Parts: sequence; structure tokens; C-alpha cells
Amino acid sequence: MDIKELGPIGAELTNLDLTQLSKEDIPHIRQSFLDYSVIVFRNQNLNPIDLKNISRLWGKALIHPVFKGIENHPEIIEIRNYGEKYHTNAHWHSDVTFEECPPDATLLYSLEVPEEGGDTLFSSQYLAYEDLDMDLKSSLSGKLAIHSNIGVLMLSGGDPKDAKTVEHPIFREHPETGKKALYVTEAFVKSIKDLDSAESRRILDLLYKQASKEEFIYRHKWSNGDLVVWDNRSVQHYAEHGYGDATRTMHRLTTSGSKPF
Ligand SMILES: [Fe+2]
Repeated sequence: MDIKELGPIGAELTNLDLTQLSKEDIPHIRQSFLDYSVIVFRNQNLNPIDLKNISRLWGKALIHPVFKGIENHPEIIEIRNYGEKYHTNAHWHSDVTFEECPPDATLLYSLEVPEEGGDTLFSSQYLAYEDLDMDLKSSLSGKLAIHSNIGVLMLSGGDPKDAKTVEHPIFREHPETGKKALYVTEAFVKSIKDLDSAESRRILDLLYKQASKEEFIYRHKWSNGDLVVWDNRSVQHYAEHGYGDATRTMHRLTTSGSKPF
């Protein structure tokens, strides 16, 4: 196994068949995931059982709280092209942060992707935190953001009355690396607790800009058979569309996490 760095974050792990992992590979993969936040494996051939087996490196495979999984594998969601209008992932987010214990890792595997379009962007929230204005850092230290699932609930045809909120720290400490990361997602955060709405809005706008600065980003261009695994505790991602009506099919799975602190 060799490691090729991809940008400000991210690394490609080469010369590896994920269906034939040796015992020695596992700690290297785990460590690369912590070091680079996004790891890429190209030219893989993974069926749903393989994907679930690999996901055990990061924890228990979760069932999405809103979206239904594929037949016989409820943990795996199939992402298909429903057209630009119905594309729901073109916003910066970390996955499922409206849960009490959001998933640590997401695995996204490309079955069939178009030649052009459909890149996924990843932004390092360690870098976003490090680079943040010192005054803002100290004034927001210990503050909580309120996350809501109302967006995904509406998308899935649910009743907005069933929406729920959860509070997470604006700056999250990674439980394994000990590093701090910015942890506010434009998709799910509604406000900052204990601030009036105008001030909350103003600060969130600043933080969202900070979260997605060009210099913190790795852009992944997909080929068939790519598996990308990212750490939701230290990155946000953004799924571009731009592939018209072309076929694009991916399998997605998340693994268990813990309460952010
Ligand atoms: Fe996502």
C-alpha cells in the first residue's frame, strides 16, 4: 500500500484491493483516515457485502434516519441522478449532524459515473478552525449551534411537525486526534444558541464562508469503482451536479459515531 497526498486534505491509497485486505493494511488505513480526513481507493470492485465489510474498519453500519436503503442492505443508500432540480446535496455539510451522535465516517462508492460533472468537494474543518480570526474563536468558544432535520424531512415527504433539533458545539474536538474543527453546517444549522437571531445569522454567514474557503478544499473527480471514505468530524463536503441527465449511481453508507464535544 502506498500513499499519495491529494491536496490540503485527502490522500489516495494505492496498490490495494479492498476485498483482499491483510491484517497489516488495517492500521495503515485507519491511520491514513485520521491523518488525511478523506481517503480515496480507486479501481475497486465492491458488492454491497464487501462495502459493509470494509465499513467495519470505522464502526457499525448505520441505517439512515430518513432515506430508505437498498433491498436486503438497509444500511446502503443508492444515490441516483434525479436531475439537477432534485439534487439535494449541493450544499456544504457534514452528514446527519441533526442526530445526537452523527456518523463518524461516510463511505461513498461509485458504480457508474459520467465522464464530466458530479465532483465532490471536501473542505478541511481543522484548517477552517486554525485559520479563524482569534477574536471570533474566543467569543464563540463553548457556544452551541442548533441543528435541525427539517430539510431532509420535507424532502422525504415527512411532516414538518415531526422535525427535531439537537445542539452541538460550534468547535468540535476530534475524539481520536484531539484536534479542534469547525462544526457548523449550512445544510442543518438553524441558529447559534443564546444569540439573537440577527447576530446568529451574521456569525453563521461568516463561519460558512470560513468553512468552504478554496485553500481548504480537495475536489474529487469520480471514476467508476472509486471508494472515498471521509471523516465527518473534520470535513464538510459538497456534491456538485452538472451532469444533466447522465446516469450516475453510487452506494453510500455511514458508520456509528459519538456525541460531539
Ligand atoms: Fe452528504
